[in-house]
Amino acid sequence: MKKVITYGTFDLLHYGHILLLQRAKILGDYLIVALSTDEFNQLKGKSAYFTYDERKMMLEAIKYVDLVIPEENWEQKTNDISRWDVDVFVMGDDWKGKFDQLSTLCDVIYLSRTPDISTTSIKSSLQSASQ
Ligand code: CTP
Repeated sequence: MKKVITYGTFDLLHYGHILLLQRAKILGDYLIVALSTDEFNQLKGKSAYFTYDERKMMLEAIKYVDLVIPEENWEQKTNDISRWDVDVFVMGDDWKGKFDQLSTLCDVIYLSRTPDISTTSIKSSLQSASQ
């Protein structure tokens, strides 16, 4: 079985996320999403609207996603790849080149981002609409 892993916050789930997950799943048979915890987001200076448990529940309801695990730090990727026997590491191309060192362990693929949608843009549109 070919296993694929991807990482992210997936807050205010949108179609850009769904398309990323769909394209990631096609690269193998089993898709693992390492979901940033609230504590890790805090460390990154990011704050999600939905909690980790809420974001996890939504991801688990998506047919492309087989398993959701916590992403708690920057360094865990090497461990995750060996622990879960991962064949393909996938990220959106906003991270292009940033994880090339993992290619000694598995395939590293950057998928193009879906244009004109992001959690940040949803948040700012809602904010402008309420002013
Ligand atoms: N993603 C994508 N296309 C988009 C938005 C996100 O392919 N339009 C991908 C990212 O490249 C990443 C994954 O979805 O691999 C999770 O991204 P995340 O950072 O959680 O979502 P964003 O909408 O980019 O959130 P933010 O605006 O907070 O950065």
